[in-house]
Amino acid sequence: MAANWKMNKNHIEAIHFVEEFRNRVEQKAINRSDIVICPPFTALRSVQTVLDSEDLEFKLGAQNMYAEDSGAFTGEVSGPMLTKLAVTYVILGHSERRDYFQESDEMVNNKVKAAFRNGLVPICCVGETLREREEGFTNKKVEWQIVHSLEGLTDEQISGMVVAYEPIWAIGTGKTATAQDAQDTIATIRLVIRDHHPDAADKVRIQYGGSVNPGNIDELMAQPDIDGALVGGASLDPVQFARILMFE
Ligand code: 13P
Repeated sequence: MAANWKMNKNHIEAIHFVEEFRNRVEQKAINRSDIVICPPFTALRSVQTVLDSEDLEFKLGAQNMYAEDSGAFTGEVSGPMLTKLAVTYVILGHSERRDYFQESDEMVNNKVKAAFRNGLVPICCVGETLREREEGFTNKKVEWQIVHSLEGLTDEQISGMVVAYEPIWAIGTGKTATAQDAQDTIATIRLVIRDHHPDAADKVRIQYGGSVNPGNIDELMAQPDIDGALVGGASLDPVQFARILMFE
């Protein structure tokens, strides 16, 4: 269950969130889920310090990274830098990065490999546009993204990673895919993975993302193939995110 804050919260606000969230989140949620907080790069160190000093069991995630480990890549952040900060997860190929920053499947694939090289768990995002859905291309689109973004990975790597299915039209719009639509596409993703990595298909964790909130999480999590959620807007509020984690 991951909070993707996107480009929100400075490091002070991030600390306030963790302090409040810690008081709101129930032990049951901590026991049954891996809870991952993905702040912007500038707040990673502050959040890590709070998690460490208060011995909190939340995991730290980044929202992106570069595929090379070091070098002349002005403005980029590398896997080893994240690992050093006790980051354990990294969101890769989010639709906002694919769309606004022209990240191709090949770039995402290189980043996923770099994440594994550095001991990070990738959360690899896929999803279709509204037009692709309306024209009946949803399954083809996610199949293409899965095959190319995860190319060259081993069964073991896929087993240990996370895939996030985020229909682009459901992100930040208040429109959620119906739980059945989310289930159907996520089942397709698992099938595609089974074709290429039979032993990994039941182990890879697949999240749904797109306007997840306390009102729709129960139905989503009740679906057999949905293992978790990647939450944007609703994860900015500690009360809401804590409520989401209490899904039935
Ligand atoms: P929202 O929950 O704000 O729709 O964002 C979803 C998302 O993109 C998470 O990565």
